[in-house]
Amino acid sequence: MTRRRQEKAGHRKKEIAAAASKILAHESSSRGSAQKSARLDTNPVGVDIGTSKIVFAQKKHGNVAFTSQLNAFISVEYSKFTESILNQNRINHYRMDESLIVYGDGAEVFANMLNTETGRPMRHGLLNPRESKAIEIIKGILDDIVAPAAKRGTQLCFSIPGAHKEAESDIIYHETILRRHLSNKGYNARSINEGLAVIFSELEKDNFTGIGISAGGGMCNVCLAFLSVPVITFSIRKGGDYIDDAVASVTGEVNTRVRAIKERELDLTEEPRNDVEDALHIYYDDLIVTLVKGLKESLAQTSKIPDFDKPVPIVLSGGSAKPEGFEHRFEMYLNKEDFPIDISEIRTASDPLYATAKGALIAAMFEG
Ligand SMILES: Nc1ncnc2c1ncn2[C@@H]1O[C@H](COP(=O)(O)OP(=O)(O)O)[C@@H](O)[C@H]1O
Ligand SMILES: [Mg+2]
Repeated sequence: MTRRRQEKAGHRKKEIAAAASKILAHESSSRGSAQKSARLDTNPVGVDIGTSKIVFAQKKHGNVAFTSQLNAFISVEYSKFTESILNQNRINHYRMDESLIVYGDGAEVFANMLNTETGRPMRHGLLNPRESKAIEIIKGILDDIVAPAAKRGTQLCFSIPGAHKEAESDIIYHETILRRHLSNKGYNARSINEGLAVIFSELEKDNFTGIGISAGGGMCNVCLAFLSVPVITFSIRKGGDYIDDAVASVTGEVNTRVRAIKERELDLTEEPRNDVEDALHIYYDDLIVTLVKGLKESLAQTSKIPDFDKPVPIVLSGGSAKPEGFEHRFEMYLNKEDFPIDISEIRTASDPLYATAKGALIAAMFEG
């Protein structure tokens, strides 16, 4: 790295560290109330737009407040009666032509009642090309979570996945549609790679140098950064959804039940007690091996790995990194590989479901 580039990176690092410490000093987890009270707020905003969840983060009275909604919907035929039932039960919905679109956390409740699956406006981290109304639906969900900017030009940062080898150009469309929509709400909106957001959130003490991994629903996103500057980003199209589908397929269980077992009971440090747990272990191993090999390959393919003067950390986040034993298995498979850079430690984000939104918020604060 040239001296000039190093100086530039060092300067940027200081600015980001200042934004991060402003936020970290006052952090708390007052979740669930940000959205309504944020309506008149001019503070910067971070939004994690994931395949499974959309998470909103904003500083509120010195604390970081998070709100989230499932990025899912179910469409039912419009009737005044259904609309009033939804209103009475405070289930998020809006009308689209002759349909009522029930979205967010309520969509899952509704789908379970009707014994069906929810639809998803996103797939593998991007707008879902198989869902004709994907754009309208995601705009509807975003409108509920992200209030219009109280002041024009309020900084907003939203997460986007790393490009995937098989569909590199798709990310441009996805990013533009979302940025345009958020800009129309009055924000100065820009995107941040999800893996880099994890680094902003979790690696302040490591000078924003290391590897950030977000293992989500639709995919896993990875970023290697040096002094906050991304050096490598990539993604794999395996995540929690892949595990649910694969396990359901080989065990004959329904997808939603597999997910419930996975989220509530899975412990990767224990011996599996039945076929579903056994299949969950098998596909978790498959996901982790794909991730580790993908990381090794990306490192091998790049000619621009910086000269790290000391080993760098890896931080794991995202809902799929939550099961007990995930970190341990990741480390086990990593140790089996001859890795081109030295790793100091592997740790899990303090709050895996909120790390991306927090990192996006830090990035937005840094701009503001
Ligand atoms: N406790 C848990 N154990 C295992 N998987 C979980 C847990 N909590 C959530 N998940 C899974 O994490 C995924 C969602 O993670 P998230 O980071 O919100 O994804 P995304 O970034 O795709 O929106 C889903 O596949 C969900 O089933
Ligand atoms: Mg995510």
